[in-house]
Amino acid sequence: MEKFDKKAIDAKLAENLPFRHRWHNRFHLEMPFGLINDPNGLCFYDGEYHIFYQWNPYGCEHKNKCWAHVHTRDFVHYSTPELALWPDDVHDKDGCYSGCGFAAPEGVRVFYTCNAKDAQGVRTSSQRFGTLQADGHVKKEEFALPTNPAGYTAHFRDPFLFTRHGRRYFVIGAQADEDAPRGTVLIYGETDEGWELLGEPETRLGNFGYMWECPNLLQFGSYDVLAFCPQGLPAREFDRQNRYQSGYITGHLSLDGMAMLQHNKFCELDRGFDFYAPQVMEHEGRHILLGWMGMPDEDAQYPTREQGWQYSLTMPRELTLRQGHIYSRPARELQALRIQETTRQLAARQTKRLEADLFPGSEVLLNICLGKAQQVDLTLRFGLETTVLHYDRHTQVMRISREGMKLGARGVRQFHLYVDEVLSLQLFIDRTAVEAFFQHGEEVASFFIFPEKDIVPGLELTADQPMEEVSGQVWQLDVFRYGMH
Ligand code: FRU
Repeated sequence: MEKFDKKAIDAKLAENLPFRHRWHNRFHLEMPFGLINDPNGLCFYDGEYHIFYQWNPYGCEHKNKCWAHVHTRDFVHYSTPELALWPDDVHDKDGCYSGCGFAAPEGVRVFYTCNAKDAQGVRTSSQRFGTLQADGHVKKEEFALPTNPAGYTAHFRDPFLFTRHGRRYFVIGAQADEDAPRGTVLIYGETDEGWELLGEPETRLGNFGYMWECPNLLQFGSYDVLAFCPQGLPAREFDRQNRYQSGYITGHLSLDGMAMLQHNKFCELDRGFDFYAPQVMEHEGRHILLGWMGMPDEDAQYPTREQGWQYSLTMPRELTLRQGHIYSRPARELQALRIQETTRQLAARQTKRLEADLFPGSEVLLNICLGKAQQVDLTLRFGLETTVLHYDRHTQVMRISREGMKLGARGVRQFHLYVDEVLSLQLFIDRTAVEAFFQHGEEVASFFIFPEKDIVPGLELTADQPMEEVSGQVWQLDVFRYGMH
C-alpha cells in the first residue's frame, strides 16, 4: 500500500493550487489530483464550517479512501485542502469510509466507518470516533461498534449522529442479510454502557433496493426527514434515472415505536446526472447540504481522469421543507461571488428568442412569463456543442439533454415540473459543473459538461410561440479562494 505521508501530500496540494486546468471549476470544491466523493464530517465549530470529503490522493480509482478537510467562514474563502484522516491500522486499512462530524468541547470530532478486508476478501465494518488536532490530522479514538449486528451484512456504514430530547442517536446505512439482500438503515441510541441497537425504523417503502448508503436524519420543525441513497432501484420515466438514487421521506420518527410514521413517498433531492451521497448540517436553524457531484460505478465516463483528478462537491445549498417537499436554494453566502461591474440585464417582451453571452463562470437568473409559448428551450452553447434544458408546458416535463456534447457522458434526464405562468430558473454555470435550480428551488439538477474547446458559453432562450416577458440577470462569478483563514 502507498504510504500516506500527510506532510508530502499537503505540500503537493499547496503547490497545485490555484487550479490550472481549464476544466477545473471555479466555485465548486474539488482537488488538483485524485478522486473525491462523499462530503463527510460537516459541522460548525468556533465560527467556521468544517467540510471533509472522501479522497483518494493516489489516483482516480475508488481505493485508498482518506478524508480531506477544508474549513471556511463564508463558503467563499477556504483553508488550503489538507489530508486529515487516512487508512493506517488493521481496522481501516481498506478505507476510512464516510461519516459525520460534530462540535464538542475538545473541538471538531468525527464519527466514521473503518473498512477492512481479510485475505479472503471478507469485510469488517467498524464505527469509530476521532478528534481533529491542531496539526490538521484526525486522531483516531474509541470505537462505537466493532462490527455489524446479526441479521445484517458487513455493508454497514456511514453513521450519522442526531440528538432527540437530549439523548444521542445515530442512523447508519445497512443491508439486511436475507435471500435477496435488502437495503435499510439501523438506529442506535447512546447508553451509559455504549451504543445500543434500537432497530430498523419501519417504513412503507417495502423492498427498496439492495443497499442504503449515507443516511441523514434531519428535523424541520415538527417533521423528521430521513434522507438516504438507495441502490438497486430500476429507472422510471420521470425519476430514478441515475444508476443510484439520493432522496428522502418526510414523516414523524417514533423512536419508541421504531417507525417513520405517516411518511410520504420517496422524493429525489436532485434531478441531474451527477449527484450522490449528500450530507446536511444543521446550524442556527439552517439546513446546509453539500452533495458529491459524481456517481459510483460511472467513473470511466469522466474525461478529467486523464488529467489525474475527478469530481467535485456541489455548492452549499440551504434546504427548507414545505408541505412535505424539500426546496433547495444556493446558500446565500454565494451571492458574494457576484462581480457587480459586469452584470448583464436581460429584458424582452413578446419574443421567441433571446441570447446572452456568459462568462467563464456565471450565475443566471431568468423569469420567463410564458404567455403563448408551449415549448421553451434554454441552450448552453459552446461553439457547435450544446446542452439543452427543454420545458414542455403541455406535459409539464423538464428535460435536460447532454446529447449535443462530444466528450464525457451524454444522455437525458427528465422530471415533472409544474409551472403555471412563470418559469423561474437560477443557473450556476461553472467551467464543467452546472447546478440548475427550478421554480425557486422546488427542483434542482446537478451535472457536468466538458466542452471540447476552451469556449466561453453562450445562452440562447427560444420558444415555439412568443414568450410574454423575459427578465433576468447574468453575473460573472468570482472564484473560491484557498489558503485564507
Ligand atoms: C458512497 C460510499 C459510502 C462509503 C464511501 C466510500 O459513495 O460508497 O457508502 O462510505 O462511498 O468511499
